[in-house]
Amino acid sequence: MPVGPQDLKALADRAVAEIAACADDAALEAARIRYLGRKDGEVTQATKQIATLPAKEKPAYGAAVNEAKARIEAALETRGAALHGASLEGSLRDRVDLTLPGRPVRIGRLHPVTAAIREVSRVFATMGFETVEGPEIETDYYNFEALNIPPGHPAREKWDTLWVSNPLGDDVKKPLLGRTHTSPMQVRIMEQRKPPIRIVVPGRCYRYEATDAIRESIFFQYEGLAIDEKLTMADLKGVLYSFARQIFGSRSNVRFRPDYFPFTEPSAEIAFSCVICEGKDPQCHTCGGDGWIEAAGCGMVHPGVLRRVGYDPDRYQGFAFGGGLERLAMVKTGTPDIRLFYQNDLRFLESF
Ligand code: DAH
Repeated sequence: MPVGPQDLKALADRAVAEIAACADDAALEAARIRYLGRKDGEVTQATKQIATLPAKEKPAYGAAVNEAKARIEAALETRGAALHGASLEGSLRDRVDLTLPGRPVRIGRLHPVTAAIREVSRVFATMGFETVEGPEIETDYYNFEALNIPPGHPAREKWDTLWVSNPLGDDVKKPLLGRTHTSPMQVRIMEQRKPPIRIVVPGRCYRYEATDAIRESIFFQYEGLAIDEKLTMADLKGVLYSFARQIFGSRSNVRFRPDYFPFTEPSAEIAFSCVICEGKDPQCHTCGGDGWIEAAGCGMVHPGVLRRVGYDPDRYQGFAFGGGLERLAMVKTGTPDIRLFYQNDLRFLESF
């Protein structure tokens, strides 16, 4: 127990030397407790002793206690800083093994439908078609009337339509709907441009429809339109034939059969030969066993449609086609059910 100022100086000398020799944080903490610990620290004991001293000794002794305490605190701080600096330097000296294999970085990938959209755009671009997009919410006029489907026309029943209420108080004579196909963009583009025109329109469509393995109520189509002088059905067949070969490979074939659409005359349906079973598997999920996959509707643009946008049908002709995009993606990726595209199951999406 220190009894005078001299003893306190000796105590502080000893503590400072000991602290300076501490090799790590644990030793430093032990030294702090030994000298400044609240209960039994040597300096703490000395502080408590002040009260027991005769009044005239108190000032000198008190001053010595304070000085010892200040010196010890300063020593603790200095040594602590030195130890931490040393540990940083030590870690900087650690060798890094640059030959270790890196940790794999998770990178995203294109959704199969996005990949199909890009592929369709790329293939038609090789034949001079420009990709454009149009509104998903359409007016009755562009979705139906401009395409020769007036109110009451039986063709409207082919499309299970989702009407949109007019929250912005738009003209009730122009009812809005989720477009049932991408064909309205044919009319919008013809209104905006003069021939020659060659466009392809990928885009989302909506139908009030129960979903199953090949139908979704929200789905994608791609639409094509070419307008020029002297275009014929042969041009249409050539373009779609080339498209099928570029998408599905040189073994694929195209089948044209007569069909009916109000906005084309004549109209046809195109089917691509099944690249999955090549027509050999009666149980094939992709083609249903008949070897053909119905892919799109098409035809020569109806003169009434041309006249409505101010084109002279005696001078200009054109062909158009529109097909389901997921259908292409399903065949290309061997996906048996359209719903898989929209369930966001990473096990499925990461397999591409
Ligand atoms: N829009 C039609 C549908 O959704 C498909 C179609 C048929 C598009 C003939 C066309 C066409 O461009 O010429 O069923």
